[in-house]
Amino acid sequence: MRVLVTGGAGFIGANFVHQSVRERPDVRITVLDALTYAGDEASLAAVADKITFVRGDIADAELVDGLVADADLVVHFAAESHNDNSLSDPWPFVRTNVVGTFTLLEAVRKHGVRYHHISTDEVYGDLELDDPAKFTAETPYNPSSPYSSTKASSDLLVRAWARSFGIEATISNCSNNYGPFQHVEKFIPRQVTNVIDGVRPKLYGTGQNVRDWIHVEDHNTAVWAIIERGTIGQTYLIGADGEVDNKTVVETILELMGSEPDAYDLVSDRPGHDMRYAIDAARLRDELGWRPQYGSFRDGLAATIDWYRANEAWWRPRKDATEAKYATLGR
Ligand code: NAD
Ligand code: DAU
Repeated sequence: MRVLVTGGAGFIGANFVHQSVRERPDVRITVLDALTYAGDEASLAAVADKITFVRGDIADAELVDGLVADADLVVHFAAESHNDNSLSDPWPFVRTNVVGTFTLLEAVRKHGVRYHHISTDEVYGDLELDDPAKFTAETPYNPSSPYSSTKASSDLLVRAWARSFGIEATISNCSNNYGPFQHVEKFIPRQVTNVIDGVRPKLYGTGQNVRDWIHVEDHNTAVWAIIERGTIGQTYLIGADGEVDNKTVVETILELMGSEPDAYDLVSDRPGHDMRYAIDAARLRDELGWRPQYGSFRDGLAATIDWYRANEAWWRPRKDATEAKYATLGR
């Protein structure tokens, strides 16, 4: 099977490529990635001789048309992915997440290629801390940020292309991922690398916000389950019942790294900050028989800390510029 992976030099896409090369010898992978600030070819160094890498933009219709014509399956990870950046400069989010997805969908429609769309639980907005509800595929869309609204827009394009043009598409909406190769702008890598550098972690607001953490390996096994056994036209929510508040995450990181658990700073809050996400993954579990392999968030976090300690050469080049950007926001 010839698989075109967009955004394969980013965090989740690179882990998807590693897992696929390792576990699926029948798959031939081409990665299309623009290598924005968030992409890094070094994340694919260990599999470089087993894949084809194309540096390019998903909004480049001619390039995309040729690559899609040569594929049996497109797995679309490429996106502008960071909420804080979307608040500072929304345009790249509209361009890549909306126009880029549109460009892929047109090529998929023309060439009759199977398409899987990677999306986020943030399209559903947020939940109150004491709400017993979790997100399901029937939850109304209610995105809060430029990032999540452009992801919601891209999901709606996929649904329309499936209904009106009959493209063979599935969509997955996943909760917060953690694991190797995640950019140091994101919460967990930022705090882990801060502690390595002797800098106190930074908690937005009061730290009460809850995220539903899943290891990136589990996200990607779920994506393969949907590709292989999912119903065309269906939306699947991916989550591993990993709800933890941000304060607890920071305290656990500090404890696992041998520091005092209260050695962090509260900083100004993110505007429009979603309070809580929680995924009901019943359809994925019941219909497709998927189960997460990472049972304990604490163990997964410890392994992730070990990875950042062992791979400083990978993250160090981006650390100073990332912190300089946060400094301008007072966070
Ligand atoms: P990331 O920012 O780490 O990687 C994004 C990749 O896309 C980078 O390699 C970047 O170079 C590439 N890219 C950006 N614009 C491009 C363009 N115009 N053309 C080609 N390539 C481009 O993101 P991530 O965290 O790996 O997220 C991957 C996908 O998963 C996104 O669609 C995101 O919305 C979704 N998602 C992420 C999470 C999470 O917790 N990180 C959770 C659920 C869903
Ligand atoms: O829910 C899925 C989403 O998870 C994905 O769609 C996004 O691409 C991904 O970036 C992530 O979005 P969040 O905004 O939840 O992730 P982030 O890592 O930016 O922040 C996680 C939580 O931690 C959030 O409540 C904000 C908080 N935070 C973040 C940073 C960077 C802090 O308290 N301090 C920080 O320094």
